Amino acid sequence: MTNSVLTSSVPAAEALGPPVPFIDLVAQQAEIQDEISPEIAEALRRADFIGGKHVAAFEADFAAFTSVTHCIGVGNGTDALELALRALDIVEGREVLVPVNSFIASAEAVLRAGATVRFADVDDDSLLLDRASVESAITNETAAVMAVHLYGQPAPVDQILSVADRYGAVVIEDAAQSQGACRNGRPAGSLSRIAATSFYPGKNLGAAGDGGAVLTSDDDLAARVRRIASHGSTEKYVHDEFGFNSRLDSIQAIVLRAKLARLEAWNAARRAAARRYDVLIADVDGVRAPVTLAGNVHNWHIYSVRVEDRDRILAGLHAEGIGAALHYPTPIHLTGAFRHLGLARGDFPVAERAAAQLLSLPMFPHLTEAQQVRVVDALKRLV
Ligand SMILES: Cc1ncc(COP(=O)(O)O)c(C=O)c1O
Repeated sequence: MTNSVLTSSVPAAEALGPPVPFIDLVAQQAEIQDEISPEIAEALRRADFIGGKHVAAFEADFAAFTSVTHCIGVGNGTDALELALRALDIVEGREVLVPVNSFIASAEAVLRAGATVRFADVDDDSLLLDRASVESAITNETAAVMAVHLYGQPAPVDQILSVADRYGAVVIEDAAQSQGACRNGRPAGSLSRIAATSFYPGKNLGAAGDGGAVLTSDDDLAARVRRIASHGSTEKYVHDEFGFNSRLDSIQAIVLRAKLARLEAWNAARRAAARRYDVLIADVDGVRAPVTLAGNVHNWHIYSVRVEDRDRILAGLHAEGIGAALHYPTPIHLTGAFRHLGLARGDFPVAERAAAQLLSLPMFPHLTEAQQVRVVDALKRLV
């Protein structure tokens, strides 16, 4: 009897149904394929490669979507962050507070701008910077605080601003993961003076390659971002300041515009999927569900639960054909890239503990209830 119970409780992966991917970009592409194909063919025929009407149209649409005056399309999200920092003169000799539990690009951009990173721990429930976490890490040297809207949930920028303002520090939003999310009725990316976003294909609004944007309602900052992103130049061969090259191309703009028209519906589908996960895991002991802060509309870029013995569970899910993932297994201060700061395990206990427990479940707009049941059944067996 013991044997039959054991074997029936650990079914072979193929007996459980088709694999569940972590993300399904093919389904998104299928929705826009017929619409974008003629537009891309026409852009290529006209040799309309970089800048031009498609980029301008997308920039206008995305600025309106985010409730800001300016959207400057650039090469990727890391460039967008660096451009935002440089436009604010956050360069050599200035310090930026960055949460340790983000994608490494949040901190890389600071180093690339020539500034200094100071890391901060985060709130244990939301895993975001908040008033208390900023208060305990900010110094008189801090020139900027990078509010990362992790997993698609806006950081409480209102709280962060209340501390940053006292120190004369500016707040920059890392809105790479938060397209379509809101806080207190305002879109993520419009909550501070300047924000950067990424259109990496896996983002809620993803290109067919790399892309990013800087968002601001400050005319001077917008002009400066455009100049720095164009070799420090507004007039051909006149380079008024140091810059580099970071551009969005027509093909990406065509893809992004088609996807932007569907983003509200896709984010609504993600929200419905998140609610289903919440219900399905509510009675599973040992699985801690993600927390949404009051006032926030999440876009569920990532749905990450917390479990003990995470690596075993991750391996078990993979063995059952479920594409779970980790965001992020190593807090940034413990990566080799930031070894020079001399930080150690134990310096940021909340983020370090979470990094060992976090487990991102499949999440994408076309995820079905049947797929989610399969994911949670597997999770139940494994915890
Ligand atoms: C939080 C965060 N910041 C910055 C980036 C950098 O964007 P990109 O990969 O487009 O450079 C990403 C995504 O990759 C991200 O998730």
